[in-house]
Amino acid sequence: MKSTARAPANIAFIKYWGKKDSRLRLPLNSSLSMNLGSAYTTTTVESSERLKEDAVSMVDAQISLSEIGRMRNHIDFIRNTFHQAHHVKVVTKNSFPKSTGLASSASGFAALTVAACTALDLHISEKELTILARLGSGSACRSIPDGYVLWEEGNSTETSFAHSLYPASYWRLHDIIAVVDNTSKDVSTAEGMSTMKTSPFWKTRIDSIPRRLAVVKDALKKKNIKALGEMIEAECLNMHAVMMTQEPPLVYLSGKTVECIKSVWQWRKDGLPVYFTIDAGPNVHLICEEPVADEVQKRALSISGVKQVINNSVSGGTQRISDHLF
Ligand code: PMV
Repeated sequence: MKSTARAPANIAFIKYWGKKDSRLRLPLNSSLSMNLGSAYTTTTVESSERLKEDAVSMVDAQISLSEIGRMRNHIDFIRNTFHQAHHVKVVTKNSFPKSTGLASSASGFAALTVAACTALDLHISEKELTILARLGSGSACRSIPDGYVLWEEGNSTETSFAHSLYPASYWRLHDIIAVVDNTSKDVSTAEGMSTMKTSPFWKTRIDSIPRRLAVVKDALKKKNIKALGEMIEAECLNMHAVMMTQEPPLVYLSGKTVECIKSVWQWRKDGLPVYFTIDAGPNVHLICEEPVADEVQKRALSISGVKQVINNSVSGGTQRISDHLF
């Protein structure tokens, strides 16, 4: 049986940084994100009794042994959980070149989870799919539901799942990614998060999340870009303040990142409503409403040091598609 799934990457407005249970990948706080229409992973999984072992490969790019190992572990986990015996062949492809330095683990594990469950003939709910995806890579659970998605932190594996707050059609926001560095990061998110409690600020951050989350939810409800944007900027800088004060310190931002931040602030002074957020890397995500997206894209390209921009409109969640990769 063969199945193909297409999963979007997502950008968090309220970030996930730190776990309360690393084996179960239970986060220290709930997080909220938007799915990205132009940055996605397509994965085909075939299960067959003829296969002697699992095989994982990637179209158009090299895949590291550790990435293959993580994907094989995830397949093993799904197979064992549901008492399945067949091995699988997996082929995966990203819409964005790996050389953009963009994280692909969220879209990658969301697509793998949905395609593998379908290929193994498992009929499970969206909620259960988000729980399985979370166990592959935390933020992957947010790439399964539609549009604007909340990952409830929970206090057990069953209660830590993601669900849609609003579909993509609710509010056409854009995330224009300004790629300033296309090398992959030295410190993975898993490794970086594992020492977050060495920051003297970690608890202050976690205690502030319910208030931040409430502001973002209210801004989404009212489609208030100013309230949303101001909070996502404060939230991302708060996460980076924790990262920079961990031991050892983690500085994911580069000089070019800071240049982009200052440009965004200047553009706002000039009347352009655009806001930034940044994950565990130097690239800058520019969040704005649809009518100004082309202007934001044009300005982002004019910053020296921006190598490429990827203009994403908000998208639906992970879809099963009939276009197989093999
Ligand atoms: O799911 P991971 O291990 O890729 O962690 C994601 C961490 C951040 O991107 C920094 C924040 C987030 O919530 O996406």
